[in-house]
Amino acid sequence: MSAAATPTWDPAQYLRHAGHRARPFTDLLARVPDLPGERPRIADLGCGPGNVTALLAERWPTAHITGYDNSAEMLDQAHVQHEGPSAGGGRLGFAHADVRTWTPEEPYDLIVSNATLQWVPGHADRFAHWVQGLRPGGTFAFQVPGNFDAPSHRLMRDLARRHGLADTLRHRDAVLAPRDYLTGLTGLGCSADVWETTYVHLLSGEDPVLDWVKGTGLRPVLTALADDPEARDAFLDDYRDALRAAYPAGPHGTPFPFRRIFAVARKEA
Ligand SMILES: C[S@@+](CC[C@H](N)C(=O)[O-])C[C@H]1O[C@@H](n2cnc3c(N)ncnc32)[C@H](O)[C@@H]1O
Repeated sequence: MSAAATPTWDPAQYLRHAGHRARPFTDLLARVPDLPGERPRIADLGCGPGNVTALLAERWPTAHITGYDNSAEMLDQAHVQHEGPSAGGGRLGFAHADVRTWTPEEPYDLIVSNATLQWVPGHADRFAHWVQGLRPGGTFAFQVPGNFDAPSHRLMRDLARRHGLADTLRHRDAVLAPRDYLTGLTGLGCSADVWETTYVHLLSGEDPVLDWVKGTGLRPVLTALADDPEARDAFLDDYRDALRAAYPAGPHGTPFPFRRIFAVARKEA
């Protein structure tokens, strides 16, 4: 079995739970202070289909905002649905970039990343470059999932091992502990606010947890099995059964606890 390749993304599948997925981003933005520039420059690293990047334009309508991503499928969706001028004279655009190597080439007021850095090995080593690229008083803010020990992900790992796909998943070191993010960011001279929240999403429909992870965490497995529909269906059958037992539906839907880690770091003004 081939080792982890860059997963392919399916914007339509990802957006099926857009409301639940946007909630942590709005909670993150609520902790971002005012930005230093009147016409702020903002980067969204791993912008996906652009729907949460568009929320930045609502909060800072004069800003020049660029969402960066390395998925052609996600960028196509973002260009078509969200690119253009903002209400206050700002602009929202999207461009291809690899977050593993992206470096600010001009001063930024805000660098933000939502639900992406878990896909970027060694991402904390990039923080110094990003903080360096902020204007004085600028902010670096991100949110990553902290649910790699949840049943959804433990079951995924167990099954991947049994199906010979273990090396497609990189869960063990995908994210740091909140205190390690805090130490890293304060060590760069920022004032930092780091916290975690467990949302209990109430999902509807049949097999909604499987439907959720098909849009995100399961992408590496689905990508590895893209040319082998029989093996993909066998994996999905086993995983569906396991998820049904781990996340039973209740009378009002399927509760899906999901821990997330947040960090907001402000560079000294
Ligand atoms: C779970 S989605 C999050 C999208 C969006 N930020 C949101 O909150 O809805 C993760 C995104 O990260 C992008 N991504 C993963 N690794 C990347 C990398 N190395 N460089 C750029 N984008 C990356 C994927 O293409 C995908 O669009």
